Amino acid sequence: MGKGNQKNILITGGAGFIGSHVVRRFVENYQDYHIFNLDALTYAGNLENLKDIEDHNNYTFIKGDITNDDFLTNLFSENEFDGVIHLAAESHVDRSISDPLSFVKTNVLGTVNLLNQSVKMAKKNPDFRFYHVSTDEVYGALGDTGFFTESTPYSPNSPYSASKASSDHFVRAYGETYGLPFVVSNCSNNYGPNHFPEKLIPLFINNIINNKPLPVYGDGNYTRDWLYVKDHARAIDLVFHEGINGETYNIGGFNEWKNIDLVRLLCKLMDKKLGRKEGASEELIAFVKDRPGHDLRYAIDATKINKELGWSPSVTFEQGLELTIEWYFENKEWLEHVTSGDYKEYYKKQYQ
Ligand code: NAD
Ligand code: TYD
Repeated sequence: MGKGNQKNILITGGAGFIGSHVVRRFVENYQDYHIFNLDALTYAGNLENLKDIEDHNNYTFIKGDITNDDFLTNLFSENEFDGVIHLAAESHVDRSISDPLSFVKTNVLGTVNLLNQSVKMAKKNPDFRFYHVSTDEVYGALGDTGFFTESTPYSPNSPYSASKASSDHFVRAYGETYGLPFVVSNCSNNYGPNHFPEKLIPLFINNIINNKPLPVYGDGNYTRDWLYVKDHARAIDLVFHEGINGETYNIGGFNEWKNIDLVRLLCKLMDKKLGRKEGASEELIAFVKDRPGHDLRYAIDATKINKELGWSPSVTFEQGLELTIEWYFENKEWLEHVTSGDYKEYYKKQYQ
């Protein structure tokens, strides 16, 4: 290409939770790259997440919707991209149960729109690569034993995971049919700074601070594998630069927790932080009606990315949780902003 290390990278969903960590990492670590952050700024997108880097001269924010094909056609005709890192999505299982169609629109149609533009871009630019960021939820639910590997058959159970599975299939199909160079990664549950407080960990941190009930679904004996978000961003960086075209990489924390045990640990750390007597926050635990189609257990076998790309998590769960709690205490304004307005309506509908 004769451009040395210069690259134009389009990151979608960069104002969201994981996307904002990926954008920051790329803007700070790759001065030769220009990072375009494309985000529709839905309820989950928040430019406050990127305040510290918004003035960097290798960074441009573009407000736009990936379901709008005309908009994407213009964007791709006005810019030459060397890569797309695609994170934009509707991402919350509970919302997918009450409004599945919006998940089909963004996660399936939006991804296909991006793929169509990417096929054209790849024809002009032989170095082009499409990176699809996906979830372990596409594999469905595990019993008490076993792990998801890259060859586990897809068996999604929620409208969210079905829409992500569909988008994964489209990516692979575009590789086979149109020769699009792509990589996919499927990651376990993330946690950390900037996590929107509708997901388990930030919701419960916020509720503990405000002495509100902690709504544990069912009996709480559901298991998730948790990964600190900055470790996911580091894995995405590695896969984007060193992953092999056409391959999938599973990313996980080697860190399984039953929800109820995780909540108890969180309560303990929060009691310490808030100077409450030990056990005080646990009294807020309230077992509530289960989520329909609730997947029993997710667990990732991350051997491939570990062996082939040398990636492993850098913090333990206890360290990551401490860092996360610290961030929420230092960013009370962020929390206040995202929990005002529409959030109150969502909360009422979901939990009352
Ligand atoms: P998020 O909900 O925090 O952020 C999604 C972002 O996408 C938001 O900024 C939102 O404004 C943007 N967006 C939504 N619809 C859009 C549209 N139509 N056009 C343009 N932008 C749009 O999600 P997240 O938790 O950061 O997840 C990011 C990606 O990683 C998703 O693809 C998700 O499936 C995947 N993932 C998430 C997790 C997790 O634990 N959160 C785990 C594995 C994979
Ligand atoms: P969540 O953070 O929504 O992630 P996912 O559904 O993608 O795994 O939920 C994590 C686990 O916590 C899941 O088993 C559902 C459970 N959960 C509750 O028990 N109560 C809640 O209020 C929420 C949001 C989740």
